[in-house]
Amino acid sequence: MGAFAEYVCVPENALALKPASMTFEEAATVPQAAIIALQNLRGKRQIQPGQKVLINGAGGGMGTFAVQIAKSFGAEVTGVDSTGKLDMLRSIGADHVIDYTQEDFTKSGQRYDLILNFAAYHSIFDYKRALSPKGIYIMVGGPRAAIFQAVFLGPLISMTGSKKMGLNTWKPNKKEDYDFIKELFEAGKVVPVIDRRYPLSEVSEALRYLEEGHHCGKIVITVEHNTLGGNS
Ligand SMILES: NC(=O)c1ccc[n+]([C@@H]2O[C@H](COP(=O)([O-])OP(=O)(O)OC[C@H]3O[C@@H](n4cnc5c(N)ncnc54)[C@H](OP(=O)(O)O)[C@@H]3O)[C@@H](O)[C@H]2O)c1
Repeated sequence: MGAFAEYVCVPENALALKPASMTFEEAATVPQAAIIALQNLRGKRQIQPGQKVLINGAGGGMGTFAVQIAKSFGAEVTGVDSTGKLDMLRSIGADHVIDYTQEDFTKSGQRYDLILNFAAYHSIFDYKRALSPKGIYIMVGGPRAAIFQAVFLGPLISMTGSKKMGLNTWKPNKKEDYDFIKELFEAGKVVPVIDRRYPLSEVSEALRYLEEGHHCGKIVITVEHNTLGGNS
């Protein structure tokens, strides 16, 4: 699924200029995490101001971008994650936070217009219950059973009622998406949350830390390279 290296060769149209005020470390967090969050928040039906959006797994790499991007669209955002990440979620703009170790949001009776799920550990029917009548559910991350449900049951649920449920479909990154994130960054509306930085030589420690799951936001691998004039 990926690799770590000093150099990579890609077609020119896969590249975009980072904002001058964005560090290379911050820029490294954008292409996967921010773009997937953005693509799902302004998919077929872009969220509207005042709509209720719930981000499950909000404290992780993609979730921290999703919270901030949803806020920039004017949504009322609820972030769900573990106890130690809730203050950080408030600090990046979440209107409400839920500690999943204490409370099951699918049983609270609250309804959401969009649920973006980065940690789908419940049945798809639990998430369906938490959707408003025309709500949308997008499953991005979770175990195989959750992917299976989103792929096979999601379309059936969507065909037989007003709620729409399914799996995030991978789309190539587009320049307009990078430009959009750049504008949000320059306006101070989206700031990458970086938990730790590791040099390339310590990538195994970085992956171990990532697997422990205690990180808030992203972990960045830094590459010292004098000819590039700094970190890249
Ligand atoms: N579909 C795609 O195209 C695509 C692309 C890239 C990644 N993904 C997947 O998307 C998922 C999210 O990626 P990421 O980089 O944001 O991961 P991440 O940084 O590990 O974030 C996941 C977050 O979910 C939290 N979490 C764990 N169990 C939870 C639960 N039961 N309820 C609510 N929150 C829970 C974790 O917190 P604690 O550990 O503190 O509990 C963590 O903050 C991963 O599974 C990844 O494999 C999908």
